[in-house]
Amino acid sequence: MDLPPRSAAVLVLAVVAACLPCMSAEDQLAVGDKLLARDTIVSDSGDFALGFFSPDDSPAAPARRWYLGIWYHSIPGPQTVVWVANRDAPAAGEPTLALANDSSLVLSDADGSVLWTTPGVGTSSSQPAPAELGNDGNLLILLPNGTVVWQSFDHPTDTFMPGMKARLSRRTERRDWIVSWTSPRDPAPGPFSCGLDPVTSLQLLMWNRTRLYSRTPVWTGYAASGTIVSAGMVINTAIVVVGTEEEISITFTVSGSPTPTRYVVTSSGTFQLLRWNGTASAWDTLQSWPSSGCTTYGRCGAYGYCDATAAPPSCKCLDGFEPAIPADWSAGRFEQGCRRTQALPPCGGGGHGFLEMRSMKVPDNFSLDAGNRSPEECAARCAGSCSCVAYAYVDLHSSSARQLRCLVWAGELVDAQMIGAPGQTLYLRVPVAATSTGGNAVKIAVPVAACVLVLTCIFFAWFWRFRGNFTDKRRKTESQKKLMTGSANTPSEVGEGDHTGDLEFPSLRFADIVAATGNFSKTFMIGRGGFGNVYKGTLDGGHVVAVKRLSKDSDQGAEEFKNEAILIAKLQHRNLVRLLGCCTEGAEKLLIYEYLPNKGLDAILFDSARKSVLDWSTRLGIIKGVARGLLYLHQDSRLTVIHRDLKASNVLLDAEMRPKIADFGMAKIFGDNQVKANSKRVVGTYGYIAPEYSTEGVFSVKSDVYSFGVLLLEIVSGVRISTTSGIMEFPSLIVYAWHLWREGKAGKLVDPSMAESCLQDEALLCIHVGLLCVEDDPSRRPLMSSVVSILENGSASVVLASASLPEPNKPGYVGMMEEKTQRSDLENSRNTIAMTVLQGR
Ligand SMILES: *[C@@H]1O[C@H](CO)[C@@H](O)[C@H](O)[C@H]1NC(C)=O
Ligand SMILES: *[C@@H]1O[C@H](CO)[C@@H](O)[C@H](O)[C@H]1NC(C)=O
Ligand SMILES: *[C@@H]1O[C@H](CO)[C@@H](O)[C@H](O)[C@H]1NC(C)=O
Ligand SMILES: *[C@@H]1O[C@H](CO)[C@@H](O)[C@H](O)[C@H]1NC(C)=O
Ligand SMILES: *[C@@H]1O[C@H](CO)[C@@H](O)[C@H](O)[C@H]1NC(C)=O
Repeated sequence: MDLPPRSAAVLVLAVVAACLPCMSAEDQLAVGDKLLARDTIVSDSGDFALGFFSPDDSPAAPARRWYLGIWYHSIPGPQTVVWVANRDAPAAGEPTLALANDSSLVLSDADGSVLWTTPGVGTSSSQPAPAELGNDGNLLILLPNGTVVWQSFDHPTDTFMPGMKARLSRRTERRDWIVSWTSPRDPAPGPFSCGLDPVTSLQLLMWNRTRLYSRTPVWTGYAASGTIVSAGMVINTAIVVVGTEEEISITFTVSGSPTPTRYVVTSSGTFQLLRWNGTASAWDTLQSWPSSGCTTYGRCGAYGYCDATAAPPSCKCLDGFEPAIPADWSAGRFEQGCRRTQALPPCGGGGHGFLEMRSMKVPDNFSLDAGNRSPEECAARCAGSCSCVAYAYVDLHSSSARQLRCLVWAGELVDAQMIGAPGQTLYLRVPVAATSTGGNAVKIAVPVAACVLVLTCIFFAWFWRFRGNFTDKRRKTESQKKLMTGSANTPSEVGEGDHTGDLEFPSLRFADIVAATGNFSKTFMIGRGGFGNVYKGTLDGGHVVAVKRLSKDSDQGAEEFKNEAILIAKLQHRNLVRLLGCCTEGAEKLLIYEYLPNKGLDAILFDSARKSVLDWSTRLGIIKGVARGLLYLHQDSRLTVIHRDLKASNVLLDAEMRPKIADFGMAKIFGDNQVKANSKRVVGTYGYIAPEYSTEGVFSVKSDVYSFGVLLLEIVSGVRISTTSGIMEFPSLIVYAWHLWREGKAGKLVDPSMAESCLQDEALLCIHVGLLCVEDDPSRRPLMSSVVSILENGSASVVLASASLPEPNKPGYVGMMEEKTQRSDLENSRNTIAMTVLQGR
């Protein structure tokens, strides 16, 4: 080429100009704009960039995978990616990111298929908002009026940056775990996740898939902060846990360091605090947890602890304990843990004291004793309860007022550590004899124990009666008989007169419930339902219960309420959650149930990470258990109780994954009129409500059978009734199941996560029964007695059982249901039955 010098210069300029837009560019993506595979958006300060990256771009890699991510733009060398949008769904070809008219981000693959989107703003009237990459690395879509449509900081991946927020919602059960990459080159969710302890919110937990892997020390304040001095620079980091009405969130702030600082969960299972070192051009690790030696959760067994201050770290027994199997300990096997050197004297007779162990990371599985207590009160709390084995307290460094937090332990002490200076003091309950040999006995315990003896006696008198009512079988059946022979509704028969002695159904004081639940603190809320909220409560003495606080719009009188509660408490079956007591005071009506630590079935069944825990035999066991529980309610209890709100979240699982039906008898307790009178009352959940109930308000045991059928199909398929995904193009799970059935492909309905363990014939029988239960016509649905016998006998000869059943009819109800729910004036419709649709979780 023979160009004059001038035109060569022009050409160079033109090339530079053409390249400019793709080099520096904007910090915004406006509506209609597209971000192509090699484009980036850079934050105003130049610190962060948003664009596509491909972690395995070596020429040898078989196929490039593209991810949308945010990384440090200011840091040279290989990209440090802090956020990934489509970690589950990499693009195979060159992807595109666009901002749609409704301000939602849409990430599409080269072939146009959508890989990832954000929710948009519904109305077209609103002014479209651009997506903007902030100087803190947050990708934000903000409406002109300040409403955040979506932000990447609400959705951390493996990195926790200053300003990000991980939430634990009480309402939606939202948990923002920070989840590691699979490997340093693969952003797909890996095995390790880290987040707040959902039970107490007082510690961070790390999981290796579903197994608890490590645990931080319990916060000694509502803010956990640490000062790290590194190479002469001081960095203050504060992890702040903030509780609000709805949710608890955890954020992280840094002061004293302008250089990039972040927390990350690595694919090898450590939670690290990293800071950029410009001199070395590398990330310095300032903190790494778990630290070596005492890593694994519960490694030293029950009543053992890991001494991290020893070199090398080693397992030891808590003071007052010795190895359970000494030979194991000398061989380095600690799983069996430790046992008491001296047995505790019988409870209530004195002779107990406390040993003090300093500098401890206190054990797990504590309960928080609500209230603003002094150290002496905390000690008395433990001394006054037979089940309490240890306590610890801490002065919360609250800015407003001095507040003491008291933790008590009632079960095995697991995962304790000795960690030196930042640790807490743990007070261990031991026989008095042991306190005299141990150097650091606590003297206050014995006199305090004596002081609270009166209180204790009152409590145990109550507790004894409380338990007696449920353990003394003979008396129970007697009182039950008496109850049955009389008219169930005559107050004189079952009334308040506890002096009759026949009925020792405990009625608790409202003040005690307030104390047990931290004044119905959101922290202890474990459920929310149509009839009211459920709280975890620890009664005086460490007895953990679930407290249901009925919403106040029941106009049933206290007397009537109590009578119903007594009747319901008589319903005892191993597949029903036990009602232990009740409480009325003013407008307050509370029911006290046994506490089941495992959540509702829905929490496992519909969680893609956990559902594989439920293999086929477990699921079949759950189906049969629920069927038996329901049969008992309908027939065997002689009361004929219709549940009216059977659904996955009302089936609780015990430690062995056996089902227990919760919330039965609610309609009775609320009073039947109530259900119809109050149009705001939730009496069912969308998808589970039988057609005749939603259209005519007719209720029978067959409406429960319908709900059971829906539940059964959910359990087999692992698909929520309220969902639209996973059911192809069909309007509902029921229609989908029926179509598969008719085409002889019902096996396809089986949840892929348990396909291996699934016995096809048994699953087909279940689906068949499920389809019969959801027949539109109630008279075609089987009774629970038939369902139970089909399921029980069917296991012996599945094929025969199935062949003898009628063919299910095509479901017609679902379409109708959808029309109905779209009507906004549902509550004014002809029938007076309320059908407030509960948000399907
Ligand atoms: C977005 O809105 C503009 C004008 O309001 C319209 O021309 C365009 O087709 C819309 N784009 C999409 C994808 O709906
Ligand atoms: C901002 O506008 C959106 C849509 O127009 C609206 O939904 C939202 O309620 C508004 N927020 C405030 C705080 O006004
Ligand atoms: C995580 O769990 C798997 C088994 O599920 C185990 O093989 C692996 O060693 C564990 N990782 C660590 C770091 O403990
Ligand atoms: C950065 O790294 C170098 C080399 O590892 C080290 O000497 C220096 O102290 C580090 N700087 C800071 C600020 O930590
Ligand atoms: C302690 O709680 C964890 C869950 O936080 C549970 O996995 C473990 O089994 C409990 N340990 C004991 C001894 O109850």
